[in-house]
Amino acid sequence: MRQIDIFDTTLRDGEQSPGVALSPEEKLQIARQLAKLGVNVIEAGFPIASPGDFQAVKRIADEVRQVSICALARANTKDIERAWEAIAKGEDPRIHTFIATSPIHMQYKLQKSPEQVLEQAVAAVKLSKSKVSNIEFSAEDASRSDVDFLGRVFSAVIEAGATVLNIPDTVGYATPEEFAAFIKAIMERTKGVEKVKLSVHCHNDLGLAVANSLAAAQMGVHQLEGAINGIGERAGNAAVEELAMAIKTRRDQFQLETTINSKEISRTSKLVSRLTGMIVQPNKAIVGKNAFSHESGIHQDGVLKERSTYEIMSPDSIGADMDTIVLGKHSGRHAVRERLTELGLEIDESRLDEVFKEFKLLAERKKEVTTDDLFTLVDSQTNNGPQVTLEYLQVSSGTQIVPTSTLGLNYKDQRYEDAACGDGPVDAAYKAIDKILGIKHKLLHYALQAINEGEDSQGEVTVSVQFDGHTVGGRGVSPDIIESSVKAYLQAVNRAYERGWITFTL
Ligand code: KIV
Ligand code: ZN
Repeated sequence: MRQIDIFDTTLRDGEQSPGVALSPEEKLQIARQLAKLGVNVIEAGFPIASPGDFQAVKRIADEVRQVSICALARANTKDIERAWEAIAKGEDPRIHTFIATSPIHMQYKLQKSPEQVLEQAVAAVKLSKSKVSNIEFSAEDASRSDVDFLGRVFSAVIEAGATVLNIPDTVGYATPEEFAAFIKAIMERTKGVEKVKLSVHCHNDLGLAVANSLAAAQMGVHQLEGAINGIGERAGNAAVEELAMAIKTRRDQFQLETTINSKEISRTSKLVSRLTGMIVQPNKAIVGKNAFSHESGIHQDGVLKERSTYEIMSPDSIGADMDTIVLGKHSGRHAVRERLTELGLEIDESRLDEVFKEFKLLAERKKEVTTDDLFTLVDSQTNNGPQVTLEYLQVSSGTQIVPTSTLGLNYKDQRYEDAACGDGPVDAAYKAIDKILGIKHKLLHYALQAINEGEDSQGEVTVSVQFDGHTVGGRGVSPDIIESSVKAYLQAVNRAYERGWITFTL
């Protein structure tokens, strides 16, 4: 069996999904989980993009071990210097530099000749080489590039010191057979190709990202790039969990193996969905809620007699077998700690105190506290303490009345109250908060999802909000969805305040 590397770009390309705005703490949390999942490389971000991106990449590089940490940089000095500054202390740091090589991108976007692009690519790799040995070079829009030109660019960057050559299907245009033949043609034209790793990065515009990646794997590439739940620009990237499970389940076909611990897939998918607010479609392969459900009588009968009649993978192979009811309001601190340990969530005593306090409050409102509720409690405990908190909330809404919200906020141990009307109860509550704090916002994205099955589930709201041109995300969980919405908005408000993007006029 040949090992193929998994390069995860959830925190870079994935974070470029519209409406996603992760805080540095959330990115760190996802990076830790990706390390547990067993990916080989984490592309932690694009440090030149903003001070927040830089901070997040740096924290990940400083704190996450046992996985190579990579940062993206366009093929220019400023980007490369900044990327290196962010990852210098990381485990096996990798600079990933890129420039477009297709006629369409060179002519219209870069307005450069092919020779200028080649020169810039070589200069970028040489500069990167002066800092680190592990260098990935990507030819953006490779699949629409001239293969002879690509062969020249790749040969030149190998000579300049690149160690990984990435072939992106940037616009998701390729088809599997054609992409496999394209990889072969590149290999034939690239001098020194045997000294480097080849990689592919496929987008899903035609729904072929995973198929194209696997076709390339069969041609002998060494690395597949993707994002958890397939998130990313436009229709997203190849889904890491689909790549990993296809390779594992059809080992007979691919003769490949990855270092992915498949039992961490479900947990990773849920964490990414929760923090990004990008809801996983129920019929999504591997991690969709219905991926292991059997609805028709014929199927259920078959599965009861012999699971393999309709199941090619088991739910426990992706760690989806833990969603059993676990605890209730009579459970004590010890039981909570035991269950957290079983779930691999080791937390120190002071954090356990906080989690247990929240657990008790939740158990008062909800009959059963499930595994997913516990994960959510622990996840929300990792956020910084808020400055503004909700004291009480009252809404009136329905048909034939104007939705109104009255709420009380706590700021520095004082209560502030006001009321507002809106298009709906959430809008009214957000307007009341704005009135109290003297701020203005633009809501870019709002997503509500149930944490688990059944009527007793908690509602989780993720928002992405703009304050004076700055985008920030927030998340809130509660059995009451208006309360979750308010908590999510307050988290975004607190983060914007921490970063100095808003001030309060109380
Ligand atoms: O899709 C793409 O081409 C990219 C590159 C930066 C690798 O994301
Ligand atoms: Zn991409």
